[in-house]
Amino acid sequence: MPHWKKSFPVDLAEEGHFSRREFVRFLAMVSAGFTAGIGYLALRKQPLAGAPDSVAAPVGPLRVCPASELAPGNSRLFTYRDDRDRCILVRTRQGTLKAYRQTCTHLGCSVRWDGQRLECPCHHGYFEVDRGFPVQGPPTRPLSALAAVEQDGFIWVIGDLPKPTLSQEKS
Ligand code: FES
Repeated sequence: MPHWKKSFPVDLAEEGHFSRREFVRFLAMVSAGFTAGIGYLALRKQPLAGAPDSVAAPVGPLRVCPASELAPGNSRLFTYRDDRDRCILVRTRQGTLKAYRQTCTHLGCSVRWDGQRLECPCHHGYFEVDRGFPVQGPPTRPLSALAAVEQDGFIWVIGDLPKPTLSQEKS
């Protein structure tokens, strides 16, 4: 007997035998595994902190900062609903106020203002500032937007803006 046969004593005729009962048992175990895995994932599923889906009750107006502290082309970070709801307020070069949640819609990193667009440093995703739509990189959904106004010398964030619809995305 060759040396390799002693090391690997495999009888091919026996190895090919696979009974119907074993096959059914195998299928049942695989199905049970998939069912348990899907059930576990469904139970564990939690929306990203600060993501639009986690938004619950409306929050009242928030005074973010004196208007004089935010010059055109600059941004300011703030939190809205709670300490984990990190947001960014931008005054565009034209003077328009824009506010978004910082949570990138790709994998949840924090976006930042680069002077022209909102940039996600994790995978180089970019969002335009007017409506928060993705313009470059992996993100495919717009940022969660907030309404910001200037009143009585202060900048206020007054609530969530509705999610853009598909027709708005195309326009
Ligand atoms: S997490 Fe923002 S681009 Fe990937």
